Amino acid sequence: MDESKKVIFSGIQPSGDLTLGNYLGALKNWVKLQEEYDCYFCVVDLHAITVKQTPANLRKKTLEMLAIYIGAGIDPEKNTLFIQSHVSAHSELSWLLTCNTYMGELGRMTQYKDKSQKLGDSIGSGLFNYPVLMAADILLYNANLVPVGKDQKQHLELCRDIANRFNNTYSDTFIIPDPYIPSTGAKIMNLQDPSKKMSKSDENPNTYILIMDPPEVIRKKISRAVTDTLGKINYSDDQPGIKNLINILCSIKGITPEDVVTNYADKGYAEFKKDVAESIIDELAPLQEKINNLLSNKSYLEEIYKNGAIKANYVANKTLRKVQKKIGLIPR
Ligand code: TRP
Repeated sequence: MDESKKVIFSGIQPSGDLTLGNYLGALKNWVKLQEEYDCYFCVVDLHAITVKQTPANLRKKTLEMLAIYIGAGIDPEKNTLFIQSHVSAHSELSWLLTCNTYMGELGRMTQYKDKSQKLGDSIGSGLFNYPVLMAADILLYNANLVPVGKDQKQHLELCRDIANRFNNTYSDTFIIPDPYIPSTGAKIMNLQDPSKKMSKSDENPNTYILIMDPPEVIRKKISRAVTDTLGKINYSDDQPGIKNLINILCSIKGITPEDVVTNYADKGYAEFKKDVAESIIDELAPLQEKINNLLSNKSYLEEIYKNGAIKANYVANKTLRKVQKKIGLIPR
């Protein structure tokens, strides 16, 4: 490990299928980070169980997520790829930080407020404490940077507050992480309502494309994507549906919106959509093949996550011991 490299930590929950938006907006860009940074990519299974999971499905999704990371091009040799529950320091630090976090702080988290409104009294306390576990994830590895979407920014802010408070109370211990805002990475919108982000939690599957969607499903979803009645391919906020499809095409092909507008100057929406669908299919086909191959090679995946856990445990336990000592727990 190169000590001079900055550390990046990120995690994805193994709780569902990833969308084209997750892929183009996040995962695909992480691949570019691996040369420049010391990256930890974690499958956060302990976060997933803050809502009810069926055991067999959780196991399946956890391995799938690992295969997706690798299939997307994240090199298990260059990065630390691991499963959160394989490093017990996450749970342990989470408790120590819980004792240094206020109810008020957690109660102000908008994600918690949204969920508690939906779930009422049956909301699990894991959802309340969720951001503390996330802070533990990040702080254990002395992460300098955390790539997060807008929805996780408040959680990262809280992580910084918790870390700063700990440092002030017990002397300098944690690195204060910054959000990593990638220079590339398009925000892919909902295909039926382009004012919203593409999300797998939408109840209408026509609003999103999953990275494992087969070609005919992709063609159907793109052909049904909302456009407008102007009939001209412009890159404009007045045509948000078309704009989103242009962004998808640009992100896949590495071209600019101007290129697309020029290329399709005298073409119709049907032809444009057909090309967008085919470009998505061409982009996802090799990824799907790699993921499926990895999933049929369980012993390889096992080797990856076991090695990842060894590397991660080493770093995480060092931080945990330091914290335990500072708090006044007797060293073992
Ligand atoms: N909470 C994040 C999400 O739902 C996932 C996550 C868990 C995470 N731990 C993290 C992201 C640490 C970044 C860093 O998207």
